[in-house]
This record gives sequence, C-alpha cells and structure tokens, in this order.
Amino acid sequence: MKKENISSKSIFVFDAFGTLFKTSEIEAELQNIAKDKTDNLLSIWRKKQLEYTWLRNQMNKYAPFSQVTKEALGYSMRVNGLKNPRIFDLLLPIYDSPNLIGGVREALNSFQEKTICILSNGTRSMLENGVQKTGIVNLVNHIFSVDDIGIYKPRKEVYQMTLDQLNVPASEVLFFSSNQWDVSGASIFGLDAVWVNRNNEVREGLPFGNVLEIRDLDEL
Ligand code: LAC
Repeated sequence: MKKENISSKSIFVFDAFGTLFKTSEIEAELQNIAKDKTDNLLSIWRKKQLEYTWLRNQMNKYAPFSQVTKEALGYSMRVNGLKNPRIFDLLLPIYDSPNLIGGVREALNSFQEKTICILSNGTRSMLENGVQKTGIVNLVNHIFSVDDIGIYKPRKEVYQMTLDQLNVPASEVLFFSSNQWDVSGASIFGLDAVWVNRNNEVREGLPFGNVLEIRDLDEL
C-alpha cells in the first residue's frame, strides 16, 4: 500500500479502541488502590479482553464486549491480588464512555471528503457514547458494531459486514487500525490497510496483506 494510492479510496474505516479511542487512563485514585500493580493490571486487562473475544469466536460463544471487558478486568484483578470493587468503577468507563486519542479529531476533520466509518468489537452503545461525548458525531458517517452479527474481529465476516452494509467493493475501502491483529485480519480479508503504529511496536509474526505503516494519522 502506497501513500499515493490513498486518494483513490472513497471510504475510510477506522478501528475504535487503540486507534480512535484510548484504552487506558491512569487516575490518581487507581494508582492509590493498585499501587505498583497498576501497569500490570492495565496490561493484563487489555490482553485478556482481546484473548477472550478470540476464544469466544472459536467457541461460537459471543457475549457483548462490555461483558468480556468486565470479565477480563475481574481476571486481571485476581491475578494481581486486587479486590477493591472501586477498580471497576474507575476502569470500565474507559470503554463505556471512551475518550479520544490526541490528534484524532483534527485527522477526521481533514478526511471529510471521505465517507468515515467506525468498525469495532465494541458494543453499539460504547461507540455511540464515544462519538457523542467526544464531539466527533458529526465527523463520522457510519458506526458498525460486531454486536449486529455476534462475531468478533478478526473473523472475515466482520470486515465483510462493512462491505455488505455499504454495498461497496473492497477496493473502495481503506481500513485503519493501531492493533496489529486487526490490520492482519483486515488486510488478509482483502482490504488495503493502514497500520497506525503510534507506539513504535515491533511487527508481529502474523500474515499481512497490503499494508501501509504510519506513525500517526497526521502523516496523511
Ligand atoms: C475495537 C477494539 C477491540 O475493535 O480495538 O475497537
């Protein structure tokens, strides 16, 4: 995928968590409760949340992302020996009522000649709360949640759902994600993809299709 080819795409589809919305925020109260376990609590939480979605895909046992997110946090608390239920109140809003990553609003604003979509494993209510609360509701044309089909990314049915709903061929779509497993899934499915590698991550040993790597959205 070359930067020059981006202008030929009419539809930009964005992953939500980690790409548009933050996946962690450390408040003083959380730090007081979890102390030196704070970073581990957050990192195991996110890892398990994703792992549980993939396992549920394997088992055909879909449960909404809100439930999976809570169950993963419960596990991370147990592993870290943390029992204080305030942790749920402090951390679940990161997904239930998400905040934007810096620079996202400006980027979406600059892409306004495109059709802008979100395609996420998040529930519809998480995504709608997020766009409302962060004031990007007018910058987004469509929100697609896996809730509608009960299957999580990176299964191909999810990327296919976007094409079906928009009634467009894959060639019109450019898919953006900071999550490498998602970039892998989308590009192997057949979407040209942009990996927004803000944290300078090492490339995973996964199959990839046509992918452009950038450091942040403002590069486009
Ligand atoms: C998303 C998460 C899982 O699909 O990153 O928004």
